[in-house]
Amino acid sequence: MSLKGRNFVDLADFERVELRQVLDTAHDLKRKQKRGEPHEFLKGKSLAMIFMKSSTRTRVSFEVGMTQLGGHALYLETSGTQLGRGETIGDTAQVLSRYCDAIMARVFAHEDITELARHATVPVINGLSDLLHPCQIMADLQTIEEHKGDLEGLKITYVGDSNNVSNSIMQGCTIMGMDVTIGSPKGYTPSDEMMKKANALGKRYGTTLEVVHDPSDAVKEADVIYTDTFFSMGQERTREKEDALMPFQVNKAILGKAQSDVIVMHCLPAHRDEELTSEVMDGPHSVVFDQAENRLHAQKAILTLVV
Ligand code: CP
Ligand code: NVA
Repeated sequence: MSLKGRNFVDLADFERVELRQVLDTAHDLKRKQKRGEPHEFLKGKSLAMIFMKSSTRTRVSFEVGMTQLGGHALYLETSGTQLGRGETIGDTAQVLSRYCDAIMARVFAHEDITELARHATVPVINGLSDLLHPCQIMADLQTIEEHKGDLEGLKITYVGDSNNVSNSIMQGCTIMGMDVTIGSPKGYTPSDEMMKKANALGKRYGTTLEVVHDPSDAVKEADVIYTDTFFSMGQERTREKEDALMPFQVNKAILGKAQSDVIVMHCLPAHRDEELTSEVMDGPHSVVFDQAENRLHAQKAILTLVV
């Protein structure tokens, strides 16, 4: 089975064996890098990276990843390209495909990434859209595997605002055999469309998906607690949303309801003492910086497989 030429836009497009291949490759590339073994599998290849919004981890990990693989990455900010002056996404996709071997993009509207993928003749990788964040979840699955061994049968609880990260958790974790609980207040739960898609995956892979409105109930016996910002990029900060989400803060009291060896995850950047306390983020259960590191290894795996 080969992933060559595939777009990496939506985890729901992949089978468990395919995501397994990405994870195994990610573990292998991490070992190689730690041992200093050469792994220049993309020598002479170029990755175009379009950023329509800010990034630290995604930009640096993709750029360093391409260098470690013997290739090159180009950082393209919208305002510095003709996209900023109205050249269409479709035309841009066709032009970049003539120079580069893959395109990674971070966009506001998810339709922009699907449009890019429709017109590009090289693989397109989603570096975050308003709907999904698939590369993040591959790094997260790698991290969970490092800390817990197997993924199958674990309970992951995402607490907070339902967003691009939780949508991709519902897909990726379900595909890999984990039971998913979303702990969100009413009004901030996943869309019907995302629930439908994840429920279909759950049926296929024999896992459960539930939405719970009480944060303590949601994290009961969780092996993994995950949270993210209350306000994603492009969203307006409101008092109403903050008030609704504050009871869902990941703190020591919440941690006490989960398994004693629970790990705490956050895609970062974190808003310390908002969605999670500094005490928990810097505490013994936190694996947030392992997640950040694994962006590098998981994305190198995606790149070597699709390019
Ligand atoms: N987690 C994540 O995607 O981080 P950046 O916004 O810094 O890329
Ligand atoms: N949900 C966050 C993730 C940032 C990596 C956002 O979209 O801003």
